Amino acid sequence: MAVAGTGQSNENWSGRAAFILAAVGSAVGLGNLVRFPYVAGDSGGGAFIFVYLATILFIGVPVLIAEFMIGRRGGGSAIAAVSRLARTEGRTRAWVIFPILGILASFLIVSYYSVLAGWILHFIQVFAVDIGGRFVAEGPVALTAPAFEGQSDEEIGGILPKLLSQPGRMIVLHALFMAATVFILSRGVKSGIEAAANVMMPIFFVLLLGLTTFSLVTGEAMQALTFLFTPDFSQLTGSTLLRAVGQAFFSLSLGAAMMLTYGTYLSRETDIKSSSQIVATADTAVALIAGLALFPIVFASPVLSADVMGDNDPGLGLLFVTVPRAFHLMPFGSLFGLAFFVMALFAALTSAIALLETSVSWADGDYDVPPAQKARRRVIGAICLGGLAFLIGIGHALSQVPQTVAATFFNDWSPLDAIPLFQGMNFLDAIDALATTVLQPFVGMITALFAGWAISTSAAKEELRFDNDSTFALWQTLVRWVAPIAVGLVLLYGAIIVPL
Ligand code: PHE
Repeated sequence: MAVAGTGQSNENWSGRAAFILAAVGSAVGLGNLVRFPYVAGDSGGGAFIFVYLATILFIGVPVLIAEFMIGRRGGGSAIAAVSRLARTEGRTRAWVIFPILGILASFLIVSYYSVLAGWILHFIQVFAVDIGGRFVAEGPVALTAPAFEGQSDEEIGGILPKLLSQPGRMIVLHALFMAATVFILSRGVKSGIEAAANVMMPIFFVLLLGLTTFSLVTGEAMQALTFLFTPDFSQLTGSTLLRAVGQAFFSLSLGAAMMLTYGTYLSRETDIKSSSQIVATADTAVALIAGLALFPIVFASPVLSADVMGDNDPGLGLLFVTVPRAFHLMPFGSLFGLAFFVMALFAALTSAIALLETSVSWADGDYDVPPAQKARRRVIGAICLGGLAFLIGIGHALSQVPQTVAATFFNDWSPLDAIPLFQGMNFLDAIDALATTVLQPFVGMITALFAGWAISTSAAKEELRFDNDSTFALWQTLVRWVAPIAVGLVLLYGAIIVPL
């Protein structure tokens, strides 16, 4: 509910379950399926996970609560909510800088997220053609076969490089994914965002559980568990802390004005604390389970495990190179490989919807106009903003292409080299670093300060309805002091000291 009248005509979630599913859909994405497993494996396994869980608990959950609270109390859109609250609380309007930067972060992230999701579409097609072709020739027995039977390991490892040498195809797939995102968003909160999450998230969870069981049973479960959960405290350095905080913000979709936006559609009845706990728990569980779905099948092959253990930063290669090679070695590999990429697509789509909604809501959210006119604003906003993100995404796609003129431009973005943080990065990596290493933690820090200091204690208490004063005091201490100081230090270290 909005405090001051405007934004009232915005749609609300149809209920608590729908809201939670949409928020989980936003949180669960490539961050859980790709980023978490390799960052965890690569930064001291159990030790990293320990720091990560502490970060989620002491920084992630309190900031998530803060975003929902600010969104609901202010209403309208992320920017309108903060500006309205600042006014009613008698604070400077300069606070709106944080939702503005948050929207920028979301918008930049979706511009490359869509390109990567296009790669997922490519793999779905490759797996579907493989399994479909054999199904026609051999019947249902084809389902038991490993993926890409008869092809060499090099050929399978070469699927991604081959795609990267076809910029046109990459851009078409990126366009398809962005169009799907725009289409869903243009249908509004209930029949767009909510409906999509209602269909895709349950299927996602079924696929994840099925794949994890398959992987634990057929793969090297013990080795994977050791890799992920044995703490190597010697690897616990400043940069591990930094990666843990960055990963927590990315994975929970914080510091991007995004959960704030979903908060604006929240009804008074919904309890923010328990919803935040469920969203954070689900997101963290999916990250951990994704590790258990991926690594056992990878470790089943000595060659692949040597690759993963040896390579310091397998990054996207884990999903797009190592995983397909692993399915090539497993019985039922075609079937489960296809299921895996479909699951990744659903996770990516519900996140991309959330990322673009953040700016679409700015275009249509805070206008007290008749519903039909509002719906039209939303469609136009979604098309224009999605179109712009698509255009920026072309730069990301080109930055992945080896050896063409355009690619060289986006690959060696020399103006960026002047800034230490971006040195040697291509366009995609630089935008990713800007959005996730700088903007998200910075915006998250200011969000915590705003919730802790600018909003009065009585207003916060009224929104959050904690059962007792000491739990409220704990939350307030975390957003007033712990989160801003911890994130501030990490930011200082990650964005300034390390790059220098
Ligand atoms: N949380 C999403 C993921 O894990 C990414 C995301 C970041 C979505 C910020 C919305 C806002 O992939």
